[in-house]
Amino acid sequence: MEWGMANRMAQLIQSDGHALFLPVDHGYFQGPTRKLEEPRKTIEPLLPYADALFITRGVLRTSVNADNSKPIILRVSGGTSVVGKDLANEGITTSMEEVIRLNASAVGISIFVGTDYEKESLLNLSKLVDEGTRYGIPVMAVTAVGRELEKRDARYLALSCRIAAELGARVVKTYWCEDFEKVVTGCPVPVIMAGGPHVDTELEVFEFVYDGMQRGAIGVNLGRNIWQNDYPVAMIKAIRAIVHQNATAKEADELYNSEKKVKAKKS
Ligand code: 5RP
Repeated sequence: MEWGMANRMAQLIQSDGHALFLPVDHGYFQGPTRKLEEPRKTIEPLLPYADALFITRGVLRTSVNADNSKPIILRVSGGTSVVGKDLANEGITTSMEEVIRLNASAVGISIFVGTDYEKESLLNLSKLVDEGTRYGIPVMAVTAVGRELEKRDARYLALSCRIAAELGARVVKTYWCEDFEKVVTGCPVPVIMAGGPHVDTELEVFEFVYDGMQRGAIGVNLGRNIWQNDYPVAMIKAIRAIVHQNATAKEADELYNSEKKVKAKKS
C-alpha cells in the first residue's frame, strides 16, 4: 500500500485495530432529522470520543471548526431524498478535487445490491475506488438497504459486503445481523457496523455491538442510536468501551447508567 493510503487508513483504524466512526451524514437524504436539526450542537460534545466523523461537505464546512483534528470520511454519494422515487438511485456528489481540498481522510459511498440501481451504484463505487487510488484516498462502501430494513440478514449482507470488497472498498460498513461471522468471514477487508433506526433500550445496542465485535467486526459507524439518545455522551462513551476496551454489553450498560446519573445530577 502506498504511504498516503496507509497513513489515511491508520488515521481511521486505531492502533488496536478497532474504530469508532460517528456518522452525521443522514441529512443528505433525510433532511433535518431528529436530534440532527442543528448539526454543530449534535457533533461538538461527541467529537472527542469519535475516531472519525462521517459527514457531507456541506455540514463539514458549516458545522465543524477547521481546527478539528479528527479524521473526516466524506459522504460523496447522494442525489436522492426520502420523498423521492427511489433512494437507490444515487450518484457521486463530490469530486476528488473537493475531497482533497477539504483534507478528508477517506470517502464513503452507498451501494444498493439487488435494487433497480444495483449496477449504477456498483459502477459508482468502482469509479470512486479508481479515483481514490490515484490520490491515496481510501473508500468506505456502505451496504445500504433503503427502507427495506428486513433485508438485513447474513446472506444478503455477506453478498453486498463481498461485492464491495471485490470492487476495491478498503472498509465496508454494514448492519449487524444474526450469524454476523458469515458476513465478516466472506469479506476480505475490515467490516464495521451501522446502527440503524433508534432502538428501544440501550442494552440492545450494547448487545449487538458486543456480539458483532466478538464475531470479527473492527468497530462501528453508529449514529442515531448515539445522538438520538437522551444522553448521547454517555452512550458514545459506553460504545467506545466495547470497541476499544473490550467491555461486555453489561459493563457498557453500567457505564452508560453511571454517566447518565452524573449528567442528570449536573442539569
Ligand atoms: C445513513 C448512513 C449512516 O452513516 C449509517 O446508516 C449509520 O448511521 P445509523 O447508525 O444512524 O444507521 O449511511 O446515510
